[in-house]
Amino acid sequence: MSLAEKIFTCFQGKEDFTLKEAYQQNINKPKETIRARIYDNLGIKFERVAKGIYKTIDTGKETCVVIEGDGRDLAMLKDNSIDCILTDHPWLDMKSNKGGTRAFAVYDCFKYTLGDFKEKARVLKAGCFLVEILPAENENNYEYLYQIKKYAKEAGFIYYSKVTWKKGTFVSNTGRKAKNSQDVMIFSKGKARNMRIDKKKTDATGEISFMSGCNGMLPTMFDVQPVTKKDRIHQSQL
Ligand SMILES: C[S@@+](CC[C@H](N)C(=O)[O-])C[C@H]1O[C@@H](n2cnc3c(N)ncnc32)[C@H](O)[C@@H]1O
Repeated sequence: MSLAEKIFTCFQGKEDFTLKEAYQQNINKPKETIRARIYDNLGIKFERVAKGIYKTIDTGKETCVVIEGDGRDLAMLKDNSIDCILTDHPWLDMKSNKGGTRAFAVYDCFKYTLGDFKEKARVLKAGCFLVEILPAENENNYEYLYQIKKYAKEAGFIYYSKVTWKKGTFVSNTGRKAKNSQDVMIFSKGKARNMRIDKKKTDATGEISFMSGCNGMLPTMFDVQPVTKKDRIHQSQL
């Protein structure tokens, strides 16, 4: 059993535990190692409650709520309460979504308004991320794609990065150019939150501290094969 699992098992079911208790339970291990295993597993096995106090994340009791409703109506969500928004909105593009006798979006479509981004900004926590799946740019949608970025900026978002999703070996031979990608557009609400553990400060204070930036870079692209047609349950399944 790894040290992280040992700490997890030891405090599983308890309301919370202190670093001191974790040290006492593992007297043969250096304090820095115990702290490091807890920090490495924040959000996975452990959650920080307050200064020096942590709790185990009960993996067996996680819940997921699915609301079948209007995704543009976020009224039921409190201000600054959401850690991340990831969305694949049904962009209205009558020209690009048709190819010969085929229709590529047989569902309700719309174009974003500034109000949509203001609502997303209202519910997201400061520094957290809004991820928008967007179509590859073409002659029909380039203005709308720019408009989205302008709306996001006006609502308080900052352009973080954009990573292309290359759809593996899939190629759609429609329109002027063969297509095999979509974009994953990432914004942060204000300055992106700090995601890099500040080891020096953490070791010195015994409290987990973060520095700006993150531990790794985003890749040049996400090269992922889409769901096959026979396994697809939605026309635009990701
Ligand atoms: C581009 S598709 C997203 C498919 C998704 N990526 C998947 O893997 O299932 C957009 C979907 O949003 C739905 N939709 C349209 N307007 C909506 C709204 N106001 N609230 C929630 N969903 C909406 C459409 O019916 C469509 O199913």
